[in-house]
Amino acid sequence: MMRTTKAVVFDLDGVLTDTAKYHYLAWKNMASQIGIEIDEEFNEQLKGVSRIDSLIRILEHGNKLGAYSSDEINRLANEKNEEYKVLIEDITSADLLPGIEAFLEELKEAGIQLAIGSASKNAPVILEKLGIRDYFAYIVDVNHIVNGKPAPDIFLDAIQGLGVPALEAIGVEDAEAGIEALEKAGIRSIGIGVTGDVTLASTAELRISLLP
Ligand code: BG6
Ligand code: MG
Repeated sequence: MMRTTKAVVFDLDGVLTDTAKYHYLAWKNMASQIGIEIDEEFNEQLKGVSRIDSLIRILEHGNKLGAYSSDEINRLANEKNEEYKVLIEDITSADLLPGIEAFLEELKEAGIQLAIGSASKNAPVILEKLGIRDYFAYIVDVNHIVNGKPAPDIFLDAIQGLGVPALEAIGVEDAEAGIEALEKAGIRSIGIGVTGDVTLASTAELRISLLP
């Protein structure tokens, strides 16, 4: 069979490992300190969204956006990240989501190029902890990206980094913002627990045979 897919771009949080739950916990604690309650339903809007944009959405949700200067916003975002870093400290390869390692191996054997298109500044550290850094030929450095997901920039940078056109790539995402970003980049999507061009309930269902 002729496969057109030459590259797969992976989101990290909620796709390779279940760090989405730690982001939620750290935000929930930070928000509650400033008198804002968030629940899991609201949290869906934060998935895939950058640290500062997440905080802005939380402040808007609590009708408190005007109450904080940009310095205070940076300080709160930092505080959340400090708690998050404690939560991810003990991550190991045992924290890979089901089927991820087998899928990465299958892709590697087929010579398909892999990149990470995560909004997280913690992505490189987490990849090291998971022991899968070497599978990826390119990792998007979000410090150089102006517009986060749902803008297409992260994924456009990923395929440019690999040197593969959008039509020959596919992205794996668990967030609505991420699926929207892929769509805007002209890249097909596999949604994990979220509707994509291919929709899966779990990472355990990832197989190379799903790729066009
Ligand atoms: C995304 C997560 O991958 O990264 C978001 O889904 C998170 O929840 C974003 O806000 C930024 O992460 P970090 O680690 O840079 O704060
Ligand atoms: Mg994610």
